[in-house]
Amino acid sequence: MIYLAPMQGYTEAEFRLAWAMFFSGIDVAVSPFIPLSEGIVFRAKHLNDIMPGRNQKLAVVPQVLGNNSEQIIRLARRIADLGYETINWNLGCPKISVAKKQRGSGLLPFPNKIRSILDQVIPNIPVQLSIKTRLGFQSPDEFYELLPVYNDYPLQSLIIHPRIGSQMYEGNLFLEVLDQTINLVKHTIVFSGDISNIRSFEALRKRYPTIEHWMLGRGVLVNPFLPEIILKGSQHLDEATIRHKQYYFAEELYCGLKDKLRNEHTVLNKLKDYWSYFARWLTGEQQVFDTLSRLHSLKEFIHVSNIVLRNNPLASFETRIARPVGKGIQV
Ligand SMILES: Cc1cc2nc3c(=O)[nH]c(=O)nc-3n(C[C@H](O)[C@H](O)[C@H](O)COP(=O)(O)O)c2cc1C
Repeated sequence: MIYLAPMQGYTEAEFRLAWAMFFSGIDVAVSPFIPLSEGIVFRAKHLNDIMPGRNQKLAVVPQVLGNNSEQIIRLARRIADLGYETINWNLGCPKISVAKKQRGSGLLPFPNKIRSILDQVIPNIPVQLSIKTRLGFQSPDEFYELLPVYNDYPLQSLIIHPRIGSQMYEGNLFLEVLDQTINLVKHTIVFSGDISNIRSFEALRKRYPTIEHWMLGRGVLVNPFLPEIILKGSQHLDEATIRHKQYYFAEELYCGLKDKLRNEHTVLNKLKDYWSYFARWLTGEQQVFDTLSRLHSLKEFIHVSNIVLRNNPLASFETRIARPVGKGIQV
């Protein structure tokens, strides 16, 4: 089973909708997190992303971020009212502003606190709970303390991104710790991290033959065909098909963003974020990205991006690196 990773700022409903119009192979998407903030349990703007009407093409598991049991319960009930059967709890977000408030990966050094939240939340929600976790915040060894906690509860699945919070999104995965603990996990494991192409997928599948659920994140941004390629190979994809689908997907995404964001400047900046990954679809990605990021008008941006999508030589799937071009990751 293949999951689309939640990526705040990238895999919101407009992306999921546009992607599902042109590509295939993803069974379910976990939504970017819905935050709980002090005093406000949820805002319409955050729930908009998971409204059933906008999510008919791709099944979604809504994700929540927070550490207040009462608020998680209230949000879970609201999500259940929308027809969802599972929610995902984010124990992986590495943002400093989040982690320092003991949310996301900032909760991982406190397994007793996680236990106490699960004690309160699980019996009181009308949906199943899955957890997305890293191995720890400061050290992957924190996972040895976390695992007995996770094992004590009836989780729908445990999504493991085998990094630690302080790494943000870069640096090596701590696969040795996963090697040592994988057989102790009592839940269905979903693996998330650094699946960029068929080679990295096959290497992980060989290393973890018992894992049947795989989550793809940045790999889908740099190659939206990746889930399909994992399932069926790439022999059936000729250049004309690849070019056509990439072009119309980009156009559909742009239309979705324009409808949602309205303000031209905001749409332009959002497109530049996407293109820090989409530039990898083409050869000369750095030049493509530099050219586009210098543009100040949305109209010009669309014009130039359409030209490069039509004319620039395509990058091969194997050489598309799942990292943004020319700038640090925005978190
Ligand atoms: C820009 C960005 C935003 C992300 N937002 C979220 C999020 O909202 N919730 C979450 O659980 N993980 C989030 N992640 C982590 C991804 O879901 C995934 O676990 C991580 O990127 C590793 O997988 P990948 O190498 O396939 O991208 C985010 C990652 C990136 C790069």
